[in-house]
Amino acid sequence: MKTKYLYINTIGCQMNVYDSDQISKSLLPLNYKATENLKKADLIIVNTCAIREKAEQKVFSFLGRLSGLKRKKPGLIIGVGGCVAQQEGKKILERVPYLDIVFGTHAIHRLPGIIERIELKKTRIVDIGMTDRIVEIESVSNLPENGKISAFVTIMQGCDNFCTYCVVPYVRGRETSRSPEKIVKEVEGLVNSGIREVTLLGQNVNSYGKKEGLCSFPELLALINEIDGILRIRFTTSHPKDLSDDLIMAFKDNEKLCRHIHLPVQSGSDRVLKRMKRKYTRALYLEKIDKLRNICPDISITSDFITGFPGETKADFKETLDLIKTVEYEGLFAFKYSDRPNAKATLFAQKISDQEKKERLKKLLDLQEIITRKKNQALVGSTQEILVEGFSKKMSSALPRAGKPKTNESLPDNIQWTGRTSTNKIVNFNLESSSVSCGEFFTGSIVNVKIEKAFSHSLWGKYLKLEPATLSLKGGESYAA
Ligand code: 5AD
Ligand code: SF4
Repeated sequence: MKTKYLYINTIGCQMNVYDSDQISKSLLPLNYKATENLKKADLIIVNTCAIREKAEQKVFSFLGRLSGLKRKKPGLIIGVGGCVAQQEGKKILERVPYLDIVFGTHAIHRLPGIIERIELKKTRIVDIGMTDRIVEIESVSNLPENGKISAFVTIMQGCDNFCTYCVVPYVRGRETSRSPEKIVKEVEGLVNSGIREVTLLGQNVNSYGKKEGLCSFPELLALINEIDGILRIRFTTSHPKDLSDDLIMAFKDNEKLCRHIHLPVQSGSDRVLKRMKRKYTRALYLEKIDKLRNICPDISITSDFITGFPGETKADFKETLDLIKTVEYEGLFAFKYSDRPNAKATLFAQKISDQEKKERLKKLLDLQEIITRKKNQALVGSTQEILVEGFSKKMSSALPRAGKPKTNESLPDNIQWTGRTSTNKIVNFNLESSSVSCGEFFTGSIVNVKIEKAFSHSLWGKYLKLEPATLSLKGGESYAA
């Protein structure tokens, strides 16, 4: 069978990155090979995000760019999947006349069948059925690309919270958790193919398993912590209202659980939190932050914020800035509020002007920038354990082959490596000239790096050569210094 080429444009969150991976793998049996060259593609998939208006605009501007390609190559198949597909359905076919497929968030496993039908007989297909996809994703094996040491694992789908600004429950459906057995099996498979770090994904992992009466999320973490070969475990996202004492204790009980939690607060004002239907108060949130820091003093805490939610006054916004100063986040994501289809807040009065939303966003980000720099600066001089991900981006292009070097392969002395701290900070570093050969130092290991410089989004350091006794490591294993 002739090799065909698949180009995927992934917009949005880690969940979409995971889904795109599933899509590529599910199309391998149809002989589709991934390409990063749009012009070479026989099939183009846009995996879309509907969370904010801007993400949705990105989808349509990308689709607009494809009309010329389709004219030049009439056999080209173009599909739109993910949240915008789920939300808009066949309206997208009407808007984009050269589009062949619209498939929703629960139709990924049906995509190979859809493609086969289109290949046989030129037709246009819309599939936005909401069947239980969790069962189906088991059929696609989640094997990583060569050289990758970190992978996502979806543990649950959908959301039952209906925060008033959010489109997720409408486009991803109700919350459903995968069984712990299947998750553990998937992680074991990943370990066997070289993965050393997993990030467990769900819209609200804290409520994992509750509905189905499966094990709790802290129990799931304990199961994964037991898996040999996994060095680090991360998870995202946590809803503050469901952050239990047991989950807080998990940071003490599981040595592989990274010291980082993303805990989106959205606003520092109780009045706004209530209208957002977040179901916690500022005081309760701060209480949980205190508990986390008591159990794990150097935990890194990050968050999401929305500026200009309908009715947000200047005083409300000031409370948000105060909260940021109080918590001193390691970093944050902030967004201007945008109306979303079906979300309740779309109908709320007292909309805030775009200019005001923008100004508040800038103030918030400027404040956080100062805090992040201060926090990063405080790490200069410290020694951090880094899980090595490979050559740094800058080096990858200069080297003949990026990723995992072979044992004993000789590399330039000035090579730059990249990895992350347990607290999720990116650290680029190099070795002192000829201080170490590749056999003792490679992607997938945890090494000690002395931090020498701090920037806004990364740190720079130097690898600390280990004592000979600690260098008897096997492929990709962790070693302490
Ligand atoms: N407008 C702006 N930001 C939003 N988010 C979710 N919905 C909206 C919206 N309608 C943000 C929240 C959430 C993050 C993923 O996106 O901060 O935590
Ligand atoms: Fe959206 Fe709220 Fe669910 Fe998060 S918890 S996905 S913000 S509805």
